[in-house]
Amino acid sequence: MQSLLNKKIVLGISGGIAAYKSAELARLLMQEGASVQVVMTEAAQQFVTPVTMQALTGKPVFTSQWDSSIPNNMAHIELSRAADAILIAPASADLMAKISLGLADDLLTTLCLARDCPLLLAPAMNRQMWDHPATQRSAQRLLSDGVSLLGPASGFQACGETGMGRMLEPAEICEQLVAFFQKKILLGKRVLITAGPTFEAIDPVRGITNRSSGKMGFAIARAALEAGAQVHLIAGPCELETPLLAAGNITRTNVVSAREMHAATMNSIDCDIFFAVAAVADWGIAKPAKEKIKRQGKQAPHLEFVANPDILLDVAKSVKSKNSKPRPYCVGFAAESTDLTKHADEKRRRKGIPMIVGNIGPDTFGSDLNQLLIIDESGSKKIAQAEKLELARKLIQLVAKKI
Ligand code: C5P
Repeated sequence: MQSLLNKKIVLGISGGIAAYKSAELARLLMQEGASVQVVMTEAAQQFVTPVTMQALTGKPVFTSQWDSSIPNNMAHIELSRAADAILIAPASADLMAKISLGLADDLLTTLCLARDCPLLLAPAMNRQMWDHPATQRSAQRLLSDGVSLLGPASGFQACGETGMGRMLEPAEICEQLVAFFQKKILLGKRVLITAGPTFEAIDPVRGITNRSSGKMGFAIARAALEAGAQVHLIAGPCELETPLLAAGNITRTNVVSAREMHAATMNSIDCDIFFAVAAVADWGIAKPAKEKIKRQGKQAPHLEFVANPDILLDVAKSVKSKNSKPRPYCVGFAAESTDLTKHADEKRRRKGIPMIVGNIGPDTFGSDLNQLLIIDESGSKKIAQAEKLELARKLIQLVAKKI
């Protein structure tokens, strides 16, 4: 899936050592389907050459407002009119100061002044330059002018110091730009998600678990963030990274067993939407051994199981009230081997939830693709096979309409 398909992005590069990462950023934007037009300041060309950027984007790079190849000599107007967004990465302290004051003494700054499209800056500079009151004033002024700042991050800097001012990684900038274009249909909403499997210990080295990569739950977390929600993700054991974008808007609790997931969920029940995506083990081991169970010839150990709490059922039960609208809006998931519609709808009614999502197809485990069957009180409808992130975005749109 290409999340920036048909988007025209002007990628501005100003003079900073992080400019070497702009080459990677241009590639990532293009991989997402964007058409990328690079504009470089004079200082930027000391760090990376226009030829590099031209080779990567397949388009001549603009470096001067005095370029005679533009018929009407109005590169600043032509480029900004055509763009869906101007993204400047890296944005140096000098460039931020200029734009914040409305100065326009080269092509890139002139373009920023003569634009009617959004402007996003990824600051990159030494920590003292970032901390300087003048730069902080620039940042505040830019924000109040409606400019978006992506980062900076804190960490090791090219100058050998450590602190705030590092440019975000190209993948993070790309994710944030993708998120920028998504509709903010969940702004101000709190979303709780369980994802991944649970693991029920038999002894310190063995256990039983369910098949689940966590990818669908994490895709929903990302789609909810993109839609402007505040997300709390409760994850069973899985290798997935927390979505990078809007880091301040997501918290994550890692759990192992179903009982831990139940406790963490009940603690966070005060939310607007609950997506129960986790493949929770229905049974745990009654008395997990404290030490590794030794093999005794051919004799197999006898394991006693106990039923785990049904997290989704308990959340749904706890929110029912006659006088007020139930909150959170609960969405369950169902993976069935036969009769998906029948079993999933039975499950929806039994748990007393408004919506359940059936995973269609046997190959969904671990895959980036899935196919969904959405069942609610009005009936069922399929969402055709697509990447899990695309499905998650469609699901978020459906749920946003319900609340
Ligand atoms: O009951 P069943 O496992 O078939 O239902 C699946 C749905 O219920 C999923 O949304 C899953 O996350 C949730 N569930 C739960 N707690 C359990 C078992 C399932 O929240 N113990």
